[in-house]
Amino acid sequence: MAAIRKVVFPVAGLGTRFLPATKSTPKEMLPIVDKPLIQYGVEEAVEAGADSLVFITSRKKHSISDHFDTAFELETRLEKGGKLAQLALVQGALPAGVRRAHVPQHQPLGLGHAVLCGRDAVGDEAFGVILADDLIKGTALGALGQMVQVYKETGCSVLAVEEVEPDQTNRYGIVSTSPHGRRTEKVDAIVEKPDPADAPSNLAVVGRYILTPRIFDLLEQTTPGAGGEIQLTDAIAALLQEETVLCYRFDGKRYDCGSKLGFVQATVEYALEHEELKDRTLEYLRDLVAGD
Ligand code: UTP
Repeated sequence: MAAIRKVVFPVAGLGTRFLPATKSTPKEMLPIVDKPLIQYGVEEAVEAGADSLVFITSRKKHSISDHFDTAFELETRLEKGGKLAQLALVQGALPAGVRRAHVPQHQPLGLGHAVLCGRDAVGDEAFGVILADDLIKGTALGALGQMVQVYKETGCSVLAVEEVEPDQTNRYGIVSTSPHGRRTEKVDAIVEKPDPADAPSNLAVVGRYILTPRIFDLLEQTTPGAGGEIQLTDAIAALLQEETVLCYRFDGKRYDCGSKLGFVQATVEYALEHEELKDRTLEYLRDLVAGD
């Protein structure tokens, strides 16, 4: 099966769990140590082989496109000042040869609607979706890269999943499955945010998807579901009536950076791995815990 070239980044959500920080800034621009979440997502997409990125943005939020635009004044200043390492950081936000498109989602009608907004930019091919507020620290390969391998072998849509605490099922799309491979399972059913008592399992879909283009037709037909939003989960439920949909237990650790606790955890753990910061962060945390 061909590679996945296009990845959609829905970044038009309201981010209500992170107000007031997200009042005028998309949560995907919140930094973990020194990089905004969206940049971690872009790096994961490019590593997975993508060369076309589609950002679904709300009208009010220009900072994402600004982040990937040329910053002429800043770059000139850094160049003249001989600050070449910083210049490389600024210029490297988007690797050479990677194209991007920004598509507006005029109203936050839900994740499914956001993905549908990417239809013209994606066209008639399978594509990836990254929800950048789910930051995933992959192992040798990022989560989307691992899923692309599954897609190449099977040609099926692939959903990233992980087990969550049984009392957390009402925050996720939850799947019931039958056996397939070592890390893959065949999705038999999917339901959005079930109460723990009704959940078919505790296997939750997290922010990485590979979807066949049939999903767009099904999204067109999807009416508002849970929370009055057009749910991607409902369109996937329709897709698996027609095609095999797999889920994949990725190798890596996920941080829900759309939540305050997940954001703090990611910040601490990324600082503990950051070349420049790790020793001093560790020392600081030890002293803090010891009450020094
Ligand atoms: P969330 O479910 O996290 O919703 O969206 P949210 O509005 O961003 O945040 P909270 O729950 O109010 O704090 C999942 C992903 O879908 C995008 C979000 O940007 C996020 O990446 N999304 C959601 C859209 O792009 N448009 C929408 O209408 C809804």
